[in-house]
Amino acid sequence: MAVPLRFRLNHEDVEVHVQDPASTLLDLLRNDLGLTGTKSGCAIGYCGACTVIVDGRAVPSCLQLVGLLEGREVRTIEDLSGPDGLDPVQTAFVTCAGMQCGFCTPGHVMALRALLDQEPEPDEERLRQTVDGNYCRCTGYVKILDSAREAVSLQKSLTGEAR
Ligand code: FES
Ligand code: FES
Repeated sequence: MAVPLRFRLNHEDVEVHVQDPASTLLDLLRNDLGLTGTKSGCAIGYCGACTVIVDGRAVPSCLQLVGLLEGREVRTIEDLSGPDGLDPVQTAFVTCAGMQCGFCTPGHVMALRALLDQEPEPDEERLRQTVDGNYCRCTGYVKILDSAREAVSLQKSLTGEAR
């Protein structure tokens, strides 16, 4: 029997009916809700490709059980760009060419977005820890770290302009 589930997704209230509360947020997003920006890599919480933000924290959606989502707030990569353009983290990846095939990019962007929401001025160590949680098979990480640093400075300048 399907179980109703209500939560916030990208700033909207959603209600879905899930057959298995032990299924994953990753499958719900990609297979049921058509949000395929979140990528499926290892499916065991190891590679970071499926990273989304739940209640402000970066989490691997392949480990997030849908049965534990009631009332929670989920953000996916689809939430980051809008009529005002790209999120600063996305802009930084474009500016610094932080992606090649792009498969790992949504996970990196969401992990960095969560970091900057919590720590607007992270140091190099924090940036490296955040990037380290996401596997990239293409770039060698130099340009991903450049993108992370650029995201910090871009966000800082945008925040300064808003004051
Ligand atoms: S697919 Fe979730 S961590 Fe790899
Ligand atoms: S850009 Fe291809 S896996 Fe990272």
